[in-house]
Amino acid sequence: MLTHSLGRPTLCYIDHDALRWNFRQIRTAVGPEVKILSMVKANGYGHGAPAVARTLAAEGSDAFGVATIEEGIELRRHGIAAPILVLAGVYLEQLDLFFEHGLTPVVHDVDGLQRLDAEVSRRAATLPAHLKIDTGMGRIGFPSAEIDSWLPRLQKLRAINLEGVFSHFSQAESVEGEYTHKQLKIFQSVVRRLRSEGIAPSLVHLANSAATITLPAAYFSMVRPGLILYGVYPAPAMKKQICLRPVLSWKTRILQLKKVPAKTSISYGQTFITKRESLIATLPIGYADGYPRLLSNCGEALVGGKRAPVAGRVCMDLTMIDVTDIRGIQQGDAVVLLGHQRDEMISADEMAARANTISYEILTSIGARVPRIHHNF
Ligand SMILES: Cc1ncc(COP(=O)(O)O)c(C=O)c1O
Repeated sequence: MLTHSLGRPTLCYIDHDALRWNFRQIRTAVGPEVKILSMVKANGYGHGAPAVARTLAAEGSDAFGVATIEEGIELRRHGIAAPILVLAGVYLEQLDLFFEHGLTPVVHDVDGLQRLDAEVSRRAATLPAHLKIDTGMGRIGFPSAEIDSWLPRLQKLRAINLEGVFSHFSQAESVEGEYTHKQLKIFQSVVRRLRSEGIAPSLVHLANSAATITLPAAYFSMVRPGLILYGVYPAPAMKKQICLRPVLSWKTRILQLKKVPAKTSISYGQTFITKRESLIATLPIGYADGYPRLLSNCGEALVGGKRAPVAGRVCMDLTMIDVTDIRGIQQGDAVVLLGHQRDEMISADEMAARANTISYEILTSIGARVPRIHHNF
């Protein structure tokens, strides 16, 4: 049952037993020798990064991955002591913060690396960093094809200690394709070449969730799963390979229940007109909470253990559902937007498919004004 203790009943529930379970499945899959860097960027994929990281640290997560230095500092402030890799850019203005909080930057281009090296050496300090190689993602990273031009520069570093080297797969939903194998081969040859030239970082990592499930050849010394920690599969076929439990559920309660005659317009723009006398429930949730506006007239929510369609446009703070066909509904009844209710369930994948996006975006878009309630924490 939901509790109303927080007032507005639009809440996310985070099940830490499910999180522990998922982490253990990953540990079993990769074995005891391979380190696990848990991706907790974007507020732990929307689940609440500090709480998620605390549970995972207690389970033995060897390191954590965040996108921004602010995300790393937040983890440190909540007592996370394990190494934290800041993946999406180093800004020299923030260099002091890397030292102050013991965070590890990612270096991804020659000029940036040289500026960082010069600045760290000016302070008579040393700083560990991970070297990002672009093996085909086409995002940040030292281009693998240009290794002859950048490798000699790595050999001249004075203050940066390259403790890690890594790359990222372009295919997040499957690793069976030729492209993934091509990226793996390129990465292997870059690592070999670095070693042969005397650069041998101890942490070598490539595997995202999909590769953690299906491609042991991509494990090296560490894996970097995100999505599967939260119990969401990169692709449905992977359900056969690993058993995960969804960590997050998203719930609310009916704010107002209204019987309306046929031909009544619901929400902005008259996109939904009742065809019969209808029972319309208004929910205190909208796109400002991260409930996608693309679910207008195509989303579904669970109420009374049944599916009810979204009626009309999703508004900023409110959304209507048509509960005409569900018996015994009352104002204040529990509504599930994501998760189980009796025998029904709406997954992040289902919501994503209806909103023409991916589960990652659904989870990371859940707004700051939706309290996260941590269970089994
Ligand atoms: C560099 C990097 N590594 C690992 C991950 C984790 O990916 P996944 O959530 O598919 O496991 C991400 C996610 O976007 C990433 O950007």
